[in-house]
Amino acid sequence: MAAAREQRRVFGEVAEAYDEAREGYPAEILELILDYAGRAPRSVVESGAGTGKGTALLRGLGVPLTCVEPDPAMAALLARHVDGDALVSVVVSRFEDWVPPSGGVDLLASAQAWHWVERDRRTRLAATALTPGGVLAIFGHDYDFADAGLRAQMDAVYLEYAPEIADQPGQPVHARHPGAFRPEELRGSPWFTDVQERQVETVVRYDTARYLTLLSTFSPHRMLPERQRSRLHRALADLVDGRGGVVEQKLTTGLWLARRLS
Ligand SMILES: C[S@@+](CC[C@H](N)C(=O)[O-])C[C@H]1O[C@@H](n2cnc3c(N)ncnc32)[C@H](O)[C@@H]1O
Repeated sequence: MAAAREQRRVFGEVAEAYDEAREGYPAEILELILDYAGRAPRSVVESGAGTGKGTALLRGLGVPLTCVEPDPAMAALLARHVDGDALVSVVVSRFEDWVPPSGGVDLLASAQAWHWVERDRRTRLAATALTPGGVLAIFGHDYDFADAGLRAQMDAVYLEYAPEIADQPGQPVHARHPGAFRPEELRGSPWFTDVQERQVETVVRYDTARYLTLLSTFSPHRMLPERQRSRLHRALADLVDGRGGVVEQKLTTGLWLARRLS
């Protein structure tokens, strides 16, 4: 019998599509991290670096950056992107298994990936990885639609073809994850202080084909049986085509910041 697929492991099945269709992060996110930190970090680790969407931002710091990524296909693409950059190293590992350098790093960042690290261990692991006073920066996009009318039509399609991943009121469909991060994890922690939240909004246009590629990279979609996924995607494509073949996605990029107690 084939082993059950784990939701946290599905990204590598579509690494190229992920790299092509997922949106990177706005430059403001890095500015907000630096403002909060109050000084430039001397060393950075990124957990769940994937193909390098967050890495692209963090490389702007120009300091040694260790990218921890467990999926070999995602890590291989990332390695290609950073090939020749002596400041960036890629470690193929879960964050749980990565051994931080002695003394820790000044910044631990995770883009759209902190929820995949074991919930009960991640805050302690973050504290262990950071220098006293070091900064934890967790960020990621919340995908919504710029047009509320389109959202309502999309919701109806999900309810018909894949109710198990359909949106709940006030909760975007792609934000539903088993280990979703909650800021309370940090607010209630004995190791962190000064927990703050910031948001940056952008609108990104996708044509039908690229939108379907994007959907094929979301883990709830990947976990659907293949036939159900294709029927859902066909219905969504018909809807988008019927509205001129363009989807405007409203991305709210949330950033949570916390400081390691000295
Ligand atoms: C949604 S992707 C985000 C990738 C990239 N940071 C981005 O923003 O596009 C989530 C990534 O977390 C990785 N991941 C899953 N479990 C992990 C773990 N335990 N430790 C670190 N990364 C993990 C996955 O392999 C995947 O590449």
